[in-house]
Amino acid sequence: MSLNVIILAAGQGKRMHSALPKVLHPLAGKSLLRHVIDAARALHPACIVVVTGHGGEAVREAMAAPDIAFALQEPQLGTGHAVMQAVPLLGAAATTLILYGDVPLTPIDTLKSLVGAASGGMAILTAELDDATGYGRMVRSGAIDGERPASGAIDGERPSPGRITRIVEHKDASPAERAIREVNSGIMAVPTAYLKDWLSKLSNNNVQGEYYLTDIVPLALADGVAVESATAPHAWEVSGVNSKAQLAELERVHQRNIATALLEAGVTLADPARIDVRGLLSCGQDVRIDVNCVFEGDVVLGNDIVIGPNCVLKNVRIKAGTRVEAFSHLEDAEVGAHCRIGPYARLRPGAQLDEHVHIGNFVEVKKSVIGAGSKANHLAYIGDSEVGKKVNIGAGTITCNYDGVNKFKTIIGDGAFIGSDSTLVAPVTIGAGAYIGAGSTITKAAPGGKLTLTRAKQLTLDAWKPPQKKSS
Ligand code: UD1
Ligand code: CA
Repeated sequence: MSLNVIILAAGQGKRMHSALPKVLHPLAGKSLLRHVIDAARALHPACIVVVTGHGGEAVREAMAAPDIAFALQEPQLGTGHAVMQAVPLLGAAATTLILYGDVPLTPIDTLKSLVGAASGGMAILTAELDDATGYGRMVRSGAIDGERPASGAIDGERPSPGRITRIVEHKDASPAERAIREVNSGIMAVPTAYLKDWLSKLSNNNVQGEYYLTDIVPLALADGVAVESATAPHAWEVSGVNSKAQLAELERVHQRNIATALLEAGVTLADPARIDVRGLLSCGQDVRIDVNCVFEGDVVLGNDIVIGPNCVLKNVRIKAGTRVEAFSHLEDAEVGAHCRIGPYARLRPGAQLDEHVHIGNFVEVKKSVIGAGSKANHLAYIGDSEVGKKVNIGAGTITCNYDGVNKFKTIIGDGAFIGSDSTLVAPVTIGAGAYIGAGSTITKAAPGGKLTLTRAKQLTLDAWKPPQKKSS
């Protein structure tokens, strides 16, 4: 079935205390609204209309895409009013799904079951909450007015719930209505043609003086359209973000869900409560991840990989058998098989390591290709370089790639040995099998197979005496 999707995102989010529009706050590295748009896209809708208001310009800019239309709601006169602004942009699809831009974690399957429940009319996504304060309550026949439920219950069976008759907002609700625990998530699927008609009949005659979308329920019943519900299996699926505390809570829910999925796929996590995935992490077999690691963007780990504690990996691919030791930071990098990275290593964008490479503590690699079996085990900077195979880069070695304006390349041939504390002033080439004496500053090509060094001669001054304090 083809769908229109409307995403309501005009609300201000005062309680976030932020200059950033609420729906642009990130959860797991992705804005709330982006989560909702991604869920909408997974349903392959005919159109997606985002209703903006507060910070509308910023929201439009952040979300601009060919498949997304924007409607401006100014001023914000309620959820019904918000949907009205989207109506002129709706596609021809028979059913319109209404989502909230600040409810980021509704699973695709839950949305599908809602849309399925609307196949014979309209359907509302509801949830049972222990504390329903603030939410609209689902009023069902028999529940409040002493009416009997529409479907008679057989003795001894739990009576089936009555039909939905209306939704009452918390602020408009009586004490008896406030006792209802089934709440309106706000997410609903509605026949498009009827929706347009019902919206035109809404009034704002209520405590808040708003046009309530929820008031379409009695209008549907009056038109003989069935009003069904789908129940979200977990409260978090329909939880919205109104404050930083709620944002943090949903972040933890989402991270727990990701950790559970990783465990189920066979990944070993030292502590499922201490891993953060802000993007996509895909793991081969027998991957072990220690505590407090953060994965951002697309991270692909092959088989038999160990990630030590407190590592940050962003857009990284690592091949089988590699160990990344504690406190390493890898970004936009590729690491071959059986490498050893860290502890305290930094791979910056464009670092490409072949297999069996060792990058040790306080070594920084940027935009450089490093050949198989090469090692830089301590305190080095390798930037804009091509390093061959089995090269040994001594402690304190620096490629001086930058003259303050331009960057230049350093090329080091296979099997070269760079003595400790060498500075290689690019552009410069070190030949295969060359040795560079410790402490050298290399500004010209160093030939292969030979020892090159630049070093002041060591002197000892026999006549020298230590300074004496002058007597005054
Ligand atoms: C609405 C429902 C309530 C439900 C609750 C779930 C109505 C009348 N009430 O409450 O039954 O339990 O959601 O959270 O529909 N928005 C706009 N424009 C507006 C008003 C709201 O775009 O003029 C958007 C907000 O940005 C938000 C969503 O609609 O994404 C819900 O608004 P909010 O004010 O949080 O909900 P209520 O109207 O109080
Ligand atoms: Ca409101």
